[in-house]
Amino acid sequence: MDIFRIRGGRKLGGEWTVHTAKNAVLPIMAASVLTSERTFLEDCPLLSDVEHMGEILRRLGCSVVRNRRTLEIDPQGMHSYEMPDGLAKKIRSSIFLLGPILTRFHRAAVTFPGGCEIGLRPIDLHLSGLRQLGVQIREECGVIHCEGSRMRAGSVHFDYPSVGATENVMMAAALLPGQSVLNNAAREPEIVDLQNFLNRMGAKVRGAGTHAIVIDGVTALHGVEYRPMADRIVAGTMLAAAAITGGTVCLHRVPAGDMHAVFSKLREMDCELTLSGDTAVISAPQRLNAFAQLQTQPHPGFPTDMQAQLLAMATVAKGTSVLVENVFENRYGHAGDLNRMGADVLINGRTAVVKGVSGLYGSRVTARDLRGGAALALAGLKAGGETVIEQAQLIDRGYEQMETALSSLGAEIVREHITHEDT
Ligand code: UD1
Repeated sequence: MDIFRIRGGRKLGGEWTVHTAKNAVLPIMAASVLTSERTFLEDCPLLSDVEHMGEILRRLGCSVVRNRRTLEIDPQGMHSYEMPDGLAKKIRSSIFLLGPILTRFHRAAVTFPGGCEIGLRPIDLHLSGLRQLGVQIREECGVIHCEGSRMRAGSVHFDYPSVGATENVMMAAALLPGQSVLNNAAREPEIVDLQNFLNRMGAKVRGAGTHAIVIDGVTALHGVEYRPMADRIVAGTMLAAAAITGGTVCLHRVPAGDMHAVFSKLREMDCELTLSGDTAVISAPQRLNAFAQLQTQPHPGFPTDMQAQLLAMATVAKGTSVLVENVFENRYGHAGDLNRMGADVLINGRTAVVKGVSGLYGSRVTARDLRGGAALALAGLKAGGETVIEQAQLIDRGYEQMETALSSLGAEIVREHITHEDT
């Protein structure tokens, strides 16, 4: 496993450019098999989730080649409609391939996907959306078999605005003759990015970013060159890193228009934010203020993917902060480790009560999921002494070399690879 070794207490300062969003790249990689032509994804970050998705595509018969920061996907040789089991368990986004595979082969077989252990994360909404487009689904020995020969455009209603289900069904409908309307769709910015990508391929999709997405099916899509959007969660995490250390940092390529909920909390905590185009400068006080209440919600509410980082900030703020996690039912895995570092966090179901303490101390902790791991890194930057974060490779799922990014802003953080004998 990898560990991060952090010596805390340094204020961050300097400039950094945000990389492309994992949550935009993954569905776009899946969408690239809706054509037989090659797609070039520019500025594609080096993240383990992206590498795993590439590996799944290869197993299905696509050619996926990385040339520096460009990912070239050639789906011409795609021959399989069965998701490779082991790989699909590693990454939940493998489920995005269901819609595109059905479009290509009129059938698909998947096992339940994996991902971070942050809740039940069922796929019923994906399956219900596809059923509403005429897909027949049966489960046999843990494998979900989908039969799509009678797929047709139509009206789809989601009981809950799931990001992944919205994206999956959007892709499935892109090539169905007639008009499909997705109601109670999720409104996340990455869905708008997927719409932009599909439209560049020749699709006719509109309404992404609202609760109703309208898709007029086209007969064929073609390969394109595309640069997916910047990562609003990475941007938010780096702002939080600057804030927890009392630093001043300038970030470029910030999707500021999609980050109002996060900016509002940072300001409530007494940080000064100056925005100009896609540049954001944050200047944090010596000690942050607690926030009254933070409730995670689907976009444009406060993103669940920033909850852990704000919780880490709250541990050292002046006063008591309350968080309610409404999206995932098991997303406080980081709280126990923060308490080991001297924090005062009480969890009761979906609620966290965080009494700010005057300081944290370094400790040996374990990343349990991607964002929780990032939150521990933030706490380590603030804590006195040395913090060691085990399972740091989980952080690589969504942050490209976080240690290099933080070091470039003045943090003392290194990665070490340790073998079983070292532990
Ligand atoms: C996406 C993001 C993830 C983010 C999440 C919520 C990607 C690759 N990942 O995940 O980073 O945390 O949105 O913003 O884009 N649910 C069901 N049934 C389903 C699907 C989801 O009950 O079929 C539930 C989930 O368990 C969860 C909630 O709906 O409680 C939200 O999940 P969803 O919006 O689908 O998130 P993902 O697409 O998995």
